Formats: sequence, C-alpha cells, structure tokens
Amino acid sequence: MWVANPSLQWTFTIYSLPVFTGAHLKTSIGHNWQEGPINSPTVLNSSMNVAQFWDGRAKDLKAQAGGPIANPGEMAFTHELAVDVLNSMPGYKAEFKAVFGKDAATIDMVTDAIAAFEETLTTPHSRFDKWLKGQKNALTNTEKEGYTLFKDSGCTACHYGPAVGGNSFQTMGLVAKYDTKNKAEGVGGLTGVDADRMKFKVPTLRNVELTYPYFHDGEADTLEKAVDIMGKLQVGRAYTPDEIAKIVAFLKTLTGKQPTFLMPILPPSTNDTPKPKPFG
Ligand code: HEC
Repeated sequence: MWVANPSLQWTFTIYSLPVFTGAHLKTSIGHNWQEGPINSPTVLNSSMNVAQFWDGRAKDLKAQAGGPIANPGEMAFTHELAVDVLNSMPGYKAEFKAVFGKDAATIDMVTDAIAAFEETLTTPHSRFDKWLKGQKNALTNTEKEGYTLFKDSGCTACHYGPAVGGNSFQTMGLVAKYDTKNKAEGVGGLTGVDADRMKFKVPTLRNVELTYPYFHDGEADTLEKAVDIMGKLQVGRAYTPDEIAKIVAFLKTLTGKQPTFLMPILPPSTNDTPKPKPFG
C-alpha cells in the first residue's frame, strides 16, 4: 500500500541511500563526521534477514528503523524532532494522510514507511538464480566449479537459503580465532553469555560483489581476502589462489538486478519547520 506513494517513498530513500549504494567505508560516517562502530550491513534484501543488525538486536526492519534517527552517533535527532519536521510540511502531511488516514505523522508511521520501502529493495534475476531455474548457460564452468567448492567445503552450513545467508548467528572464528581491533562482541554483547561472544548474523552473500569491504569490522577489502579468511577460520581449509578465484567467480554470480531510483523533489519546508543545526 505505502509504496504506491512515490514522494513519501523518496523521503525515506535519503535515509537508506548511503547504506545501500555502499559508501564502501569500513564503518559509516555519522552526524558531525563521527566514525561508526561497525561495518554497515547492506539494506539490499534485508527483509530476508532473521533479525536486523550484526547482533540481531532489532527483531525486524520496523524495529531497526527507529534506531539511527535517534542515535547520537548517526542522525543525532530525536523521534519528536523528526516527526515535528515532517508535520511542519503540508506536502508530507498530505502523503501520510493519504497512506495512513491520519492527520499527523507519528514515529510509528515513519518506521512503518521506512520498513515498507526497504522491503522493496530486493535484487532478483541474478545469474545464479537463472541457472537454478534451469538456464544451463547462465554460469561458466569456472563459476560452477566455484559453486561446487562452496558446497563441498561446507560454506553452505551457514550461507544457505534464499539470501545465501541471513538466517542464523554463528561464531566468527570457529576453527581459529579471528583477530580484530573492533570492539563488537556480536550476540555476546547483548546476552553477556560467553558462548555468544563473536557470534554474528551470517551475512547474505547476494550482491556481495558490490558490498565491500567485508566482515563486521570491514577489514577484508577484497572478496579474495574474505574467502581466504572464511576458508581458514570457518571450515579449516587453506584454499589455493586458483580455488579462491573459482569461489569468488561463483560469488559474483549472486549479483542481481539492482533497485533504481529517480531522486524526488521533496516537499518544501515552511517557516515553522525546525531548522537544521549541522554544526552545533
Ligand atoms: C560457521 C558458519 C560459517 C561458515 C561455515 C562460513 N561462513 Fe562466511 N560468514 C559467517 C559469518 C558469521 C560471517 C560474518 C563474520 C563477521 O563479519 O565477523 C561471514 C561472512 C562471510 C563473508 C563476508 C560477507 C560480508 O558481507 O561481510 C563472505 C564473503 C563469506 N562469509 C563467505 C564464506 C565462504 C566462501 C565460506 C566457505 C569457505 C563461508 N563463508 C563459510 C559464517 C560462516
């Protein structure tokens, strides 16, 4: 329902754009150029994730969407201020009224709308999908060999399902310890349970060609490095450069059709719209 309203939809594109186009930084930049604590997961296909964030602390996209608005290290707003800004503009009020039937926007409607928008960010028709559907020439021999290696060495124990990941939390550094300067402890940071330390949501591998750098700390800047590390730390296998190249070739077949957007002209502010204070 909501996505039929293009101009409202575009407002929320602004929130999501830096993430899904991939700023390709190890961690994202927040208000006042603050350095974020963790690599931003892609919003592409994020509706397929079992929960949101690397540690799963938001149960779904709607629960996630409220976080960055009020986080002092991200948008440094408050929910009240965000809603006041929207409600100060007749253009937005009309859009919210058309969609939700209410005279004023609430944070609940805002997070509903953001989640509905994110649900549209799917990437179908990858070459791998075409191959699975029976189009035999959709993959080259090298890519098929890479897929066989991926399956036979056990990568699919964690990266499985429609998003090739996103459905479970697993220890990073199962066979050997992962060395990182990043302070995130994954699920353990939430539960305080030792066995959950360094358990992170298995990322989707769809579009992984586009979502560098890799891992929660953003420390692997190429797919080759990420595959090498996964081989050694998760399945106890030191791949040859040739094997790594084959797996990488397979992973690149998971790139699907990307969502495209026309940037909208946003509704104008009024004299009552709270003014931005970017430097104070
Ligand atoms: C035991 C579960 C498990 C297995 C097996 C596993 N992975 Fe992973 N994979 C993960 C987790 C968890 C992460 C995220 C780790 C982090 O960021 O700290 C990850 C991350 C990745 C990433 C980076 C994605 C991103 O967006 O950052 C790639 C690429 C990857 N895995 C490929 C593979 C390959 C190839 C194999 C087989 C050699 C494999 N994985 C085996 C759990 C697993």
